[in-house]
Amino acid sequence: MAEETLFMIKPDAVAGRKVGLILAEVEKAGFEILAMRLVRLTPEEARRFYAVHEGKPFLDDLVRFMSSGPAIPCRLRRENAITFLRERIGATDPREAKAGTIRALHAESKQNNAVHASDSPESARIEIPFFFGEAGGR
Ligand code: CMP
Repeated sequence: MAEETLFMIKPDAVAGRKVGLILAEVEKAGFEILAMRLVRLTPEEARRFYAVHEGKPFLDDLVRFMSSGPAIPCRLRRENAITFLRERIGATDPREAKAGTIRALHAESKQNNAVHASDSPESARIEIPFFFGEAGGR
């Protein structure tokens, strides 16, 4: 069944001019781009987006990184989108990501890891409206 997920190109990859390459990989993998924005998150917005990580030792640095420059959230659709995209982006830490995955190819570090993708249908239901409202950017 076709499913939707929230994908985001993070500030390191935007600054590194990898947007075109990453979007090409996503489209080649069969995803349809339903909505897309370029946003500069405030620290408050970045903290709210990553609210599930409240209390983690890396959160303050993550918030600084995510608000350091523009990011590109995208609403994507594909069969089995959430599991498939998580597989395509690879592990959080690029040193552990399988060869050929987006993070293995484009991430700098465990924090500056190029992209984000919803990890479950529950996360996607929160993360898509975070950027695209209840109408999903239509
Ligand atoms: P993401 O998949 O967007 O989900 C949470 C983010 O926090 C993660 O990618 C990384 O950018 C960051 N992150 C997770 N774990 C660590 C860690 N141990 N050290 C630094 N950053 C982390």
